[in-house]
Amino acid sequence: MISIRSSREIDLLEHAGHIVYLTHEYLKPYIKAGITTHELDKLAHDFIISQDATPSCLGYEGFPASICTSVNQEIVHGIPGNRKLKNGDIISIDIVACYKGYHGDSAWTYAVGEIDDDSKYLLEHTKKALYVGLKEIKPGARIGDIGSAIQEYATTHHLGVVKELVGHGVGTDMHEEPDVPNYGVKGSGPILKEGMVIAVEPMLTFGSPEICILDDDWTIETEDYSRAAHFEHTVVVTKEGYKILTGGEHDKSE
Ligand code: MF3
Ligand code: CO
Repeated sequence: MISIRSSREIDLLEHAGHIVYLTHEYLKPYIKAGITTHELDKLAHDFIISQDATPSCLGYEGFPASICTSVNQEIVHGIPGNRKLKNGDIISIDIVACYKGYHGDSAWTYAVGEIDDDSKYLLEHTKKALYVGLKEIKPGARIGDIGSAIQEYATTHHLGVVKELVGHGVGTDMHEEPDVPNYGVKGSGPILKEGMVIAVEPMLTFGSPEICILDDDWTIETEDYSRAAHFEHTVVVTKEGYKILTGGEHDKSE
């Protein structure tokens, strides 16, 4: 069953989403060569707590940190550790926060210093793929419309679409129904209704989209070691379309 949220619940989801947005903004100036992913995790943890929220990832199915940090060929679920970021790296930071029982979920891929043109291309077009997917959202549209738009955009730009990992509903659980794949067929899948809340999260690769799970049982990376990017927003379906809950002023007027 896909939940339809009341306006009170949407306010709480918006608050949680805003905390996630603020956490990304707080971390941005620290994303530089020399910082470790563990230090970023600690900063995010303390910031989320300071906002009267909790980091939803911490302890989720045993995950040992507050955020996921996935560097270069890592796609998602990287565990923060002693690795120091280097100039030219890209890092995907996935943040989920819970406020009064409601979650917000957003991932963003950042450049560390100066990155090469291929990485710039990957970041630019994965971010664009997120907004191309979001544009499909309105009451009466279907989940497959989102995935088909993302897949078409990615394929046109010669980027790989990771199929094993999908977006999801967001609410009192971090992962709820429905699945929101980054591929699909227009006109197929569940129908979107006003008040549904979903996370759309394209994960695109510069090379092959085949994945590999590391021995830590969490980190997922590309099999061919090509770089991957991940952009994610939590949104609510509105009467006219959708509203981004994890974005800034710019996103709110999108
Ligand atoms: N946004 C990530 C996801 O949807 C959050 C993962 S938290 C973790 O998969 F604990 F599972 F890593
Ligand atoms: Co997510």
